[in-house]
Amino acid sequence: MSFAHLGLAEPLVRAIEAKGYTQPTPIQRDSIPQLLEGRDLLGIAQTGTGKTAAFVLPSIQRLVAAQKRVLPTHCRMLVLAPTRELASQIADSARGYGQFSRMSVATVFGGVSINKNRQDLSRGVDILVATPGRLIDLVEQGLCNLSMVEILVLDEADQMMDLGFIHALRKIVRMVPRKRQTLFFSATMPAAIRELAGQFLTDPATVSIKPAATTAERVDQQVTFVNQSEKQALLTILLGDASIDRALVFTRTKHGADRVVKLLAGNGIAANAIHGNKSQPQRERALGLFKSGQVPILVATDIAARGIDVSGVSHVFNFELPNVPEQYVHRIGRTARAGASGQAISFCADDEKPYLRDIERTTRQKVPVTPLPEDFMRQAEAIKHARVKAIGADPAPREDRPRQQRGPARPRATHAPTATNGRNYANASPGGRGGAGGGQRGGNRGRGRGGQRSGGASAGR
Ligand SMILES: Nc1ncnc2c1ncn2[C@@H]1O[C@H](COP(=O)(O)OP(=O)(O)OP(=O)(O)O)[C@@H](O)[C@H]1O
Ligand SMILES: [Mg+2]
Repeated sequence: MSFAHLGLAEPLVRAIEAKGYTQPTPIQRDSIPQLLEGRDLLGIAQTGTGKTAAFVLPSIQRLVAAQKRVLPTHCRMLVLAPTRELASQIADSARGYGQFSRMSVATVFGGVSINKNRQDLSRGVDILVATPGRLIDLVEQGLCNLSMVEILVLDEADQMMDLGFIHALRKIVRMVPRKRQTLFFSATMPAAIRELAGQFLTDPATVSIKPAATTAERVDQQVTFVNQSEKQALLTILLGDASIDRALVFTRTKHGADRVVKLLAGNGIAANAIHGNKSQPQRERALGLFKSGQVPILVATDIAARGIDVSGVSHVFNFELPNVPEQYVHRIGRTARAGASGQAISFCADDEKPYLRDIERTTRQKVPVTPLPEDFMRQAEAIKHARVKAIGADPAPREDRPRQQRGPARPRATHAPTATNGRNYANASPGGRGGAGGGQRGGNRGRGRGGQRSGGASAGR
């Protein structure tokens, strides 16, 4: 099966060839023909399987065929995404797929000056990719008009219908024409939210390559039970694994992400953080240095869980498990994309076990348990000792745990898991690539650090 067989026109096929794709992925194969016919569609497919091209390619073809001229401040296709980074990435993809189809593409999201948005929109654009908050600001100021929208796309649709966005979404939907094509895509779709989708879609086709919340195929998942206070040492040891190309480390809170960066620095490991309290230039810089491999460890909140496509992410660490089980699917989906394989290693403290159960229920699978490395306590002590020597004192204990979960101090001893899959961390040692007190990581890895303090913009704007 080729892209031309799906009914795509020559300029699009040429752009796909330029990307190096040889055949459509299942979600592309099953949704593109229906989308070319103009149907509404709910598309569910695993992370990293090409949903972006599945909605962008047929939409460009329809926009070209309709031959309408866009008016100043208007757009013809509106793509909504939950974060700025994802909006920017979708726009880049649309530019690539539309490079021989004369499509104009613009983005609007917070953290960028309104004046820049005004300029970008002044002549009108074919494809506008936006986060909801800033889009509404622009419409309310008369700088953007949605009355010419022919195609509305919700990427990460379940998140866009979730509590944080539903109010803004309803507002936006009231601004676009009733007669339009509407496309929803995600790797997850909780049943309650799927029902909501019916309010926005008209007689939709449903394409579900695998049941919602199926994890990416080639991601090797493991969980290790470890006390919260020893997670840092475990991360330091595991980052010494020579097979790590790029590692994304997820925490639940912004403060938690900053703390991990600081503690890693104390152990001579350079990393950047990306979260909603960073300024837009800081966010772009952190992601850029991660993509280029100059600072190959990025510590993130769930701001980076969805949609972000960075090739070469070999490892995802859940330093803290997400309390929303679908987020696990998205987080670990930052690795093992486009046919590659990857590792997802989750750290689970006692009080996170209910989250693990939710994740296993949602993904319909058990996560194999890997025990702590042999001699872990001794290594952990050495790492802590080296850090104290390097920075003078150990940082304050974490205070970001939800109030109800702060209980009496947990026992210090790490517990051995009851069942294991026979694996262990034999190859990892603190003397490897990371290393307690071992100075900066090799090569140019130290370059990206520093200057990352406050900022002030939220994900949805
Ligand atoms: N037909 C194809 N052949 C090879 N690579 C492809 C194909 N289609 C898309 N890709 C590549 O696969 C990667 C993942 O695509 P994309 O970001 O669209 O995945 P996704 O399904 O949206 O994932 P997520 O659920 O994480 O958002 C991209 O790097 C893209 O260039
Ligand atoms: Mg995507």
